[in-house]
Amino acid sequence: MNISVIGTGYVGTVSAACFAELGHKVICVDIDRSKIDQINAGIPPIYEEGLSELLKKHAGKNLSATSDYDFALMNSEVSLISVGTPSDPDGNIDLGIVRAASTSLGAALKNKNGYHVFVVKSTVVPETTEKVVLPIIEKNSGKHQGDFGIAMNPEFLREGKAVYDFMHPDKIVVGSMDKRSGDIVASLYRGLECEITRTNPRTAEMIKYANNAFLATKISFSNEIGNICKELGIDTYEVMKAVGKDFRIGPNFLNAGAGFGGSCFPKDVKALIGKAKEIGYEPILLKSVIMVNEGQPGRMVWLLKSRIGTLKGKKITVLGLAFKNDTDDIRESRAIPVIKELLDNGAIVSAYDPMANENMRKIFKRVEYHSSAEDALRGSDACLVMTEWDEFKSLESEFDVMKNKLLIDGRHMLTPKRDIEYIGLCW
Ligand code: UGA
Repeated sequence: MNISVIGTGYVGTVSAACFAELGHKVICVDIDRSKIDQINAGIPPIYEEGLSELLKKHAGKNLSATSDYDFALMNSEVSLISVGTPSDPDGNIDLGIVRAASTSLGAALKNKNGYHVFVVKSTVVPETTEKVVLPIIEKNSGKHQGDFGIAMNPEFLREGKAVYDFMHPDKIVVGSMDKRSGDIVASLYRGLECEITRTNPRTAEMIKYANNAFLATKISFSNEIGNICKELGIDTYEVMKAVGKDFRIGPNFLNAGAGFGGSCFPKDVKALIGKAKEIGYEPILLKSVIMVNEGQPGRMVWLLKSRIGTLKGKKITVLGLAFKNDTDDIRESRAIPVIKELLDNGAIVSAYDPMANENMRKIFKRVEYHSSAEDALRGSDACLVMTEWDEFKSLESEFDVMKNKLLIDGRHMLTPKRDIEYIGLCW
């Protein structure tokens, strides 16, 4: 099949490379010239494990990139819309980029004969495909649904493991308004061993939100239990390890700590809250999921103050800046509110992250960034661990250079050392 992929963010680029690997001919479309040049040269515009190899293999053969919507539409039968869906200042979904892409696609469709299917892959709140994307394409093309197909096909890719997740899906959801377009979208995944869930677009949109909201709820639930455990002198990791043995609950995503960050969970839960409110429903549980999450970074600083008192003039080391391990992405990282509070309290902040120092420097110029944990820890009054990087597990002699050996772990990464005061956030 010939596919065009609109938007070369992590979902668009990974999907494009993986569809090429599955044997399709793929054209990426983006307005950013530098990304187009990179993809055509076989260089990934983002870091994702395994992506570089796929781009090298397929660029210039069955994978190319352009900014020309007309060319992309003329040379494909299916267009995947995988552009960003950021939050507006109130946390509601901002569909501006989806609207712009739909407008361009509609205009390009006007000049095309033959059936074409438009597939929304971006995470959009229920009803968006039917009530926003479809009417825009109809208006700009002068055609009607049926002349072309429309579908929604959410992604469930973890950042850092996106190529693996694409190739080994535990679910594929295809929501279409008619059988013909749904069949075409389902056929794109031929070759992958996975049952395909067929539904309508709004159900597919909701499956994506329910999935992310449930995972976020598991984390906030674990954090709340963890906060109670902490007060009672109980190790929440012992508790949740046993709880997770219940087959109805499962052992994953029960790790209490500094909370969830990233470009998806915080944004998606807030967008679902916004959609619920729009239809007159007050989503109490979802609001609490966000509240618990937003409280965790403050608990780190509160624990710190309870041990060393005022932070004014004290040197505090933050280990881990990325929102999770194996990425340089700092979007909604729990390190951000922690660093802000430390600086607001007059602390001198030194930091180390294996990949994310440069990205954090764009937000906090006053932080001292180091290229190793040991350098960041030198002369420090306390250390806060904010990201679950594997290399932190083996830190030991590095702590010897601290002035005061106090370690507050927000990710359950370290085992207590003899001469270190070790404090777990929820254990
Ligand atoms: C998440 C979902 O896991 C993907 O399935 C989904 O496709 C993606 O969002 C998306 O909507 O695009 P991602 O944001 O890459 O993927 O990150 P996760 O690995 O899920 O971790 C999210 C955050 O939760 C991290 O900050 C992590 O530290 C935190 N977390 C995770 C916990 O605090 N506790 C846990 O037990 C697990």
